[in-house]
Amino acid sequence: MTAKIVTFGISKGGCSKSISSGITSYLLSKNEKVLTVDMDGQGNLTSFLTSEYDICNVFEKKTVLEAILDGDARKYIIKISENLDLIPANDFLATLPRMMYENGLGLDALQKALEPVMEDYDWIIIDTPPALSEHTVMPLSTYSKAGSYAVVMFDGSMFAYYAIPKFLEIIEGAKERFNPNLETAGILFSLIDARAKENEIMEESVDEDYPGVRFKTIIKRKAATRRLAITGFDENPELKNALEYYIPFVKELKKRVKQEQPQKNDKKAERHANIL
Ligand SMILES: Nc1ncnc2c1ncn2[C@@H]1O[C@H](COP(=O)(O)OP(=O)(O)OP(=O)(O)O)[C@@H](O)[C@H]1O
Ligand SMILES: [Mg+2]
Repeated sequence: MTAKIVTFGISKGGCSKSISSGITSYLLSKNEKVLTVDMDGQGNLTSFLTSEYDICNVFEKKTVLEAILDGDARKYIIKISENLDLIPANDFLATLPRMMYENGLGLDALQKALEPVMEDYDWIIIDTPPALSEHTVMPLSTYSKAGSYAVVMFDGSMFAYYAIPKFLEIIEGAKERFNPNLETAGILFSLIDARAKENEIMEESVDEDYPGVRFKTIIKRKAATRRLAITGFDENPELKNALEYYIPFVKELKKRVKQEQPQKNDKKAERHANIL
């Protein structure tokens, strides 16, 4: 097996990137092997999956930052459940650009760190911060011969609406420069308030701007989903309710990823990987 890579992102904060990447990882790990990577120094995905909030101390020098600097992720992978592993992050990830500069690392550094484990997983799911920085560009630049995908998170707000084309531009840039296999899996509406009148207009606008790109599933705002960060996945009596919208999303994601044909670029992609 070779892992398919899925990166969740948007430069607008609070669009549910961390919750969505965490729940997606959890659901995929029911049947397949998943490595989830936290590329945000806030460490929200790390806390969500480990229930550990003292991330600076608990994960001191055991994070994705050290994995990137070592050029090998293996030592930094922690087990969450049978099929789900995590590479955590903490606040020191803010130093990534300086460390890259000091160590002469390029945007392919995450690719190099993940290469030794690429065959160990079916999926590598990556959470990114609300910024179009190295933390976001690196995951998008990470090549896999099984395919590399971006999920664009959208919370239905005007601010996020104007962040979409910027993120799509970053995706295009990463595809052209580093990762010819990269595809946009789709735009995912999330945190949608069922009562907000503007939802339909936003859906129409996105469909008009980016025909066929939006996921049909819409993740509605739900208290049970928010409470997952407190209650966790195990022995949670409201788990089914909390995951209600994510189950069809993950089905749709798998279908879209299967339909994509990254092989069409394989020769070019292999050449890129060899150059990196
Ligand atoms: N479907 C949902 N229903 C209710 N609350 C949600 C849902 N999804 C996420 N939330 C809550 O919304 C907030 C933002 O979610 P999250 O932290 O995942 O966003 P983010 O895009 O990762 O934020 P950041 O840009 O800061 O990294 C969190 O408090 C989270 O618990
Ligand atoms: Mg986040």
